[in-house]
Amino acid sequence: MANHLSFCLCLIFLTTTHIVAAQSETYIIHMDLLAMPKAFTDHHSWYLSTLSNVRLATKANPETQYPSSKLIYSYTHALNGFSASLLPEELEALKASPGYISSVRDMPVKLDTTHSPKFLGLNSNAGLWPISNYGEDVIIGVVDTGIWPESQSFNDNGFSEIPSRWKGKCEGGTQFNSSLCNKKLVGARFFNKALIANPNVTIAINSTRDTDGHGTHTSSTAAGNHVDGASYFGYAPGTATGVAPRARVAMYKAIWEEGSTSSDVIAAIDQAIDDGVDVLSLSFGLDDLPFHQDPIAIATFAALSKNVFVSASAGNRGPLFGTLHNGTPWVLTVAAGTVDREFQGVVKLETGVSLTGSSLYPGRDSASAQLPIVFLDACNNSKILKQVGNKIVVCQDRNDSLNDQFENVGDANVAGGIFITNNTDLELFLQSSFPAIFLNPKDGEVIVNYIKSKPDPKASLAFSFTSLGAKPAPRATSYTSRGPSPSCPAVLKPDILAPGSLILASWPENVTAAEVNGRKLYSKFNILSGTSMACPHAAGVAALLKSAHPEWSPAAIRSAIMTTSDSTDNTNSPIKDIGLDNDPANPLTMGAGHVNPNKALTPGLVYDAGIEDYINLLCALNYSENQIKVITNSFPFNCSTPSLDLNYPSFIAFFNANDSNPNAKTTQEFRRTVTNVGEGEATYVASVTPFNELVVSVAPDKLVFKEKNEKLSFKLSIEGPRLMKEVIAFGFLTWVDEKSKQQVKSPILATNFDLQPVTASSN
Ligand SMILES: *[C@@H]1O[C@H](CO)[C@@H](O)[C@H](O)[C@H]1NC(C)=O
Ligand SMILES: *[C@@H]1O[C@H](CO)[C@@H](O)[C@H](O)[C@H]1NC(C)=O
Ligand SMILES: *[C@@H]1O[C@H](CO)[C@@H](O)[C@H](O)[C@H]1NC(C)=O
Ligand SMILES: *[C@@H]1O[C@H](CO)[C@@H](O)[C@H](O)[C@H]1NC(C)=O
Ligand SMILES: *[C@@H]1O[C@H](CO)[C@@H](O)[C@H](O)[C@H]1NC(C)=O
Ligand SMILES: *[C@@H]1O[C@H](CO)[C@@H](O)[C@H](O)[C@H]1NC(C)=O
Ligand SMILES: *[C@@H]1O[C@H](CO)[C@@H](O)[C@H](O)[C@H]1NC(C)=O
Ligand SMILES: *[C@@H]1O[C@H](CO)[C@@H](O)[C@H](O)[C@H]1NC(C)=O
Ligand SMILES: *[C@@H]1O[C@H](CO)[C@@H](O)[C@H](O)[C@H]1NC(C)=O
Ligand SMILES: *[C@@H]1O[C@H](CO)[C@@H](O)[C@H](O)[C@H]1NC(C)=O
Repeated sequence: MANHLSFCLCLIFLTTTHIVAAQSETYIIHMDLLAMPKAFTDHHSWYLSTLSNVRLATKANPETQYPSSKLIYSYTHALNGFSASLLPEELEALKASPGYISSVRDMPVKLDTTHSPKFLGLNSNAGLWPISNYGEDVIIGVVDTGIWPESQSFNDNGFSEIPSRWKGKCEGGTQFNSSLCNKKLVGARFFNKALIANPNVTIAINSTRDTDGHGTHTSSTAAGNHVDGASYFGYAPGTATGVAPRARVAMYKAIWEEGSTSSDVIAAIDQAIDDGVDVLSLSFGLDDLPFHQDPIAIATFAALSKNVFVSASAGNRGPLFGTLHNGTPWVLTVAAGTVDREFQGVVKLETGVSLTGSSLYPGRDSASAQLPIVFLDACNNSKILKQVGNKIVVCQDRNDSLNDQFENVGDANVAGGIFITNNTDLELFLQSSFPAIFLNPKDGEVIVNYIKSKPDPKASLAFSFTSLGAKPAPRATSYTSRGPSPSCPAVLKPDILAPGSLILASWPENVTAAEVNGRKLYSKFNILSGTSMACPHAAGVAALLKSAHPEWSPAAIRSAIMTTSDSTDNTNSPIKDIGLDNDPANPLTMGAGHVNPNKALTPGLVYDAGIEDYINLLCALNYSENQIKVITNSFPFNCSTPSLDLNYPSFIAFFNANDSNPNAKTTQEFRRTVTNVGEGEATYVASVTPFNELVVSVAPDKLVFKEKNEKLSFKLSIEGPRLMKEVIAFGFLTWVDEKSKQQVKSPILATNFDLQPVTASSN
């Protein structure tokens, strides 16, 4: 039922655009800076010279009338190299140039698309908001579809001066005056050189102005200032606020309605690093690529090496396992959960009985008179539907046919539709262009019995209801992509669950927010769903933590977010997974748990990691020297201590050997080092949840810290059969400080899942 998600998750899926002039195509070229001849003063002139030598060498095919080999971007931070449009023979010639390491063809990038801060427990009286001063002076860079600078979420009332270290700027362009930036929106830049290398592409609005809405939504989610009187056509009324309302925002527009390419995205990240952002929020990804071919993995490694924290979306390809992207060990990979808010419509039967279902129908004319109501069961006969006229139609989805029923009813021009359904991805349908309410099977039965029992049944529909405190919440969504990470199964991904479904945030007032019966409706706020929305929530939390603890590394911030997260919902039961029949969500779905910002402020212990640790991991993943150079931007390294055992705050073990002796025991060991970031002395004792087929032990099981910043190590061992019978077993290692009751919790996941990873030798 739930793997129905191919039906475009209400977020934009940009179409593939071929970046070509005749047969030339755009490539990202990785170069070895160490091979740059001394004659060149900078990498840019070396790249230009390399390209012009290529042009001479191939002597430009006489049939081509246009300049072929053309430099598009010369990158400085995100990677060592450049992007260029090249003919096949030029690419071949380039491969023989000194310093050439490798190249990848440019590819399209797709997006993973105010109450939520309150749901996260953020409040003005205590905890992370006041302590971090709401993220003041942290700069969040968002690479996305642009921004609507007039949105009240970006007002700078009461803001202090922009930090002097900031090097970004506000680029003017079509319908975007550079004076539109302020102390809140501190940067606005746009990148489309690779996109327009395709002569067929014409950019309508050549500026950072958001003509789509996605970027305005994500950036206001991360760092929108307070706005009173927000709502989406009467739904979710109240004050809208981002997670870090005083953080600064810099928008890097690289995703266009006309298309998008990875080389524009890399140019955006390159610039963001140069400008001095502290946190990057990336609500898009590239599927199934090994690190050396994934430009986002490479650019985020560069970000890490400049101490920039990166939050990235897991993708919307759930609920199947092994589907996530951005499963990169040096970023925070964010999964999407629900919040405790429901949007509703009410069916009132003539008898006076009212039934409440889900709806986000935006029509203002929403309370109808009593109208005849008919039951059309599967609603699969368009001919009958078209004859219904001004009546309410009831459809029963028995067979995962909601999508068809919804379209059939939408086309039939009836007074309204009531859909009885178990569908797990209702987010996709709620913003209907005709009056529609989605009822669960139990309430549906009431309505069907009523219709069947009356000769002349009637009902009315009413909309725009919002209810808070829905239980259980949060839940993992069905669409959120699942681990293990195809690019690195040895590191448990995703890392964290954050609010992603039905999120209210700012929207460009000139971009259509809804459509009713062919009429376009506009709103300064919109409600969107996806891991695209979860990612900026986590970026906002990271910004608050960075403000409260400027000395923490990106890995320490991630560790604090993970080890303090909640594994239970608002009914005190384990967080459930909508995509798995509401069974308890496992760490391949939600990572460590649901983000709890106030607890992340004081994690007690952190699992830290630095560049060398990630390089040791790449070595153990059997990447070649050249591939590691590409990924690490030629950071000096050697592979003398390869290790898959990254110092990560989670554990994943595969017991999937399908051989002659599957019952033989095997033990997997993990070594970890924790740093005491609490105040002074502390004694932590290990506690591990019991497992069925496995024996988990920790040695030593007691860690005695004498002072702050002291590091102590331990070993976690998991003994089990070579082939587990259960597909997934999971639990937690929790270090508990006896005195302060501080808990440091890490998920442990064991699986017999036989993932086909994308590896160093994948092509
Ligand atoms: C541009 O459009 C023309 C005409 O539709 C088409 O033949 C050509 O292949 C397109 N070029 C690219 C690079 O997409
Ligand atoms: C940009 O705004 C400034 C100040 O509001 C104004 O003086 C200037 O004319 C504007 N520029 C453009 C190109 O509209
Ligand atoms: C867009 O604006 C940039 C910077 O102002 C300019 O260099 C570029 O030529 C423009 N592109 C188009 C397609 O108008
Ligand atoms: C509609 O669905 C019913 C059962 O769900 C089936 O028997 C019938 O053949 C379908 N009709 C059409 C027109 O597809
Ligand atoms: C809804 O799910 C329940 C339990 O899985 C099932 O018994 C029922 O038939 C389903 N109903 C519909 C309308 O799909
Ligand atoms: C449900 O769908 C399956 C597979 O598409 C089909 O074989 C079956 O006939 C359908 N049942 C109903 C009641 O429509
Ligand atoms: C938004 O739309 C209004 C009304 O059509 C128009 O006056 C205004 O210029 C538009 N703003 C932008 C930035 O496009
Ligand atoms: C790396 O190569 C070694 C030697 O061939 C092999 O034993 C090991 O399993 C490989 N590691 C990975 C992660 O593929
Ligand atoms: C490898 O790197 C480590 C740390 O960077 C260094 O201590 C060691 O000497 C190096 N080994 C070789 C063989 O270069
Ligand atoms: C183990 O291998 C056998 C034979 O190749 C296969 O039939 C079986 O499905 C495999 N079991 C698992 C759990 O992969």
